[in-house]
Amino acid sequence: MSGTATSAAAETSPSALAHDLYADTYGTPATGLWSAPGRVNLIGEHTDYNNGFVLPFAIDRRTWCAVGERADRSIVVTSTLTGDDAQISLDALAPERLQGWSAYVFGVIWALGEHGVDLTGRQGLNLAFASNVPLGAGLSSSAAIECSVAVAVNELWDLGISSKQLAKVCQLAENKAVGAPTGIMDQTASLLGQPGHAVLLDCDSYHSELVPLALSDAGLAVLVIDTRVTHAHATGGYAARRESCERAARELGVVTLRELTEVSLPQARTMLDPETFRRVRHIATENARVLETARVLHDAGPRAIGDLLVASHASMRDDFEISVPQLDLAVETAMAHGAVGARMTGGGFGGAAIALAPIEMVDAIGDQVTRAYADAKYEPPVMFTVAPAGGAGRDA
Ligand code: GLA
Repeated sequence: MSGTATSAAAETSPSALAHDLYADTYGTPATGLWSAPGRVNLIGEHTDYNNGFVLPFAIDRRTWCAVGERADRSIVVTSTLTGDDAQISLDALAPERLQGWSAYVFGVIWALGEHGVDLTGRQGLNLAFASNVPLGAGLSSSAAIECSVAVAVNELWDLGISSKQLAKVCQLAENKAVGAPTGIMDQTASLLGQPGHAVLLDCDSYHSELVPLALSDAGLAVLVIDTRVTHAHATGGYAARRESCERAARELGVVTLRELTEVSLPQARTMLDPETFRRVRHIATENARVLETARVLHDAGPRAIGDLLVASHASMRDDFEISVPQLDLAVETAMAHGAVGARMTGGGFGGAAIALAPIEMVDAIGDQVTRAYADAKYEPPVMFTVAPAGGAGRDA
């Protein structure tokens, strides 16, 4: 593959970095080391906050957090991710006081309080982070931070909160402390992921099911193509799409767009303006594609899901209008050079695309994408393969 390609295994171990950073910063060894993965969404985009279906998988790129207790009531964070160290008292936790990347960390502890954890008698914590989840690439680097904190604190404070409840705690942190109106998908994938599997999640009942991906048995790999076009969920397009879905639901007289199936689309068309109708059509058809993808994976294996991935991308490009030219070029180039399927993944407006491709074609596809980007005078993309990995937990 091109010179921009990297592999997680080749990099200095971030788990060792987190461990060493803790000892250097706080002068004692950490009590333990926890980690949580980023995610790739295989299919089901913007369906989570419409109470629909998603099919993400946890990836083999993680955020590690070394943690230990303090004698006072401060929460202190340091990381190799940014130069900004931060500190807050457990008595001062409130969403409006949190800013910068530490809001992901402090936000989770605040959200545990909202969930009913009594924070009054607790000792403070020291935390040190390191990660190999690329920031801003649409691979849920934020959920990886949140979920690593959630599993660490859950264990250190002996809270006994289930993974699904922790996902909700982390989502609350993201929504209220960070201010991004996102759904429950990323945190669920990061907490429930299992090696070799995707997580089929019904965001209405919150029922989840592991779906075997069997990628290597089928001779396939997932190539991530990070466009390096940055997306910001706290502002802009993501929130606007969420608002139009909620408005459409009100206009159609349903609680959420989950209630709408493809059969109800002709009637919906008569009730909505053309743009809102296209948004709604994406949600209804995408929900159907998620269920179909899970069925096809089960019955025929991953080589058979390519058309569904491509149809999902077209729907996001044309109906939901959340793609950007760099994502479209990545998808088109991958498909033209042997990918089985390809689509943008995550919230859109930048971030990454994925290509599901025969293992022996991944390098050539990467080279072609690099060339196509150079011809289009786009910034070079960053590419690497990912494998479905295990969810958040304790490492040491
Ligand atoms: C982001 C959000 C998720 C989801 C996706 C789009 O990743 O965090 O909740 O809405 O975008 O599918």
